[in-house]
Amino acid sequence: MKKQLGPSDTFFPTPITLVASGTLEKPNIITIAWVGMVCSEPPTIAVSMTNKRHSTESIRNQGEFTVNIPGTSKVAEVDYCGIVSGRRNDKFKETHFTPAPGLKVGAPIIQECAYNLECKVVNELQIGEFIVFLGQIVETHIDNNCVDDTGRIILGKVNPLVYAAGLREYWNLGEKVGTAFNVGRQLRVTDGE
Ligand SMILES: Cc1cc2nc3c(=O)[nH]c(=O)nc-3n(C[C@H](O)[C@H](O)[C@H](O)COP(=O)(O)O)c2cc1C
Repeated sequence: MKKQLGPSDTFFPTPITLVASGTLEKPNIITIAWVGMVCSEPPTIAVSMTNKRHSTESIRNQGEFTVNIPGTSKVAEVDYCGIVSGRRNDKFKETHFTPAPGLKVGAPIIQECAYNLECKVVNELQIGEFIVFLGQIVETHIDNNCVDDTGRIILGKVNPLVYAAGLREYWNLGEKVGTAFNVGRQLRVTDGE
């Protein structure tokens, strides 16, 4: 038996990201849970924000933004950036985050986040009150200590925050439970293909 919840935006887990826009001199950060990779080639990410956000205006004008993955130790800063607006607050200053220059876009990356994507807006959709920016990823940064000698990302070092939307809860990643494109092979019952 299942219980029906009706049309619901409760969805989990999602990454929790800090999307930065503006310039090194006047940067802003917004906390975004509605985010997801939508194309591999060219790598393209969707970020969705209501048209009330200060960030919506600045990303639309600028045509660029960065997506930054915060670690679990930054949970309070992440929450703060989702509570106050850049219209009235200097969130970089108040969180002690450092805006660092991107290589390909004018929007800053957040130094204290281990993984950073530089994005150029290639399209914009409106759904209800939300604006979905599609950003082509033009550069990616990762902290040196989060990759091994072969260049493979050490996820435990990145230690990203995970969000349960609807429940309003932040979690950490937990354990690896399988290798993708591999663990499913054990279900093959015939020798076909
Ligand atoms: C955990 C969390 C997730 C959020 N996710 C989104 C989101 O996906 N889209 C959105 O428009 N606002 C989201 N918000 C709200 C914005 O981050 C918040 O309104 C922020 O203050 C807007 O900042 P700005 O006005 O400086 O752009 C989220 C807030 C929190 C705390």
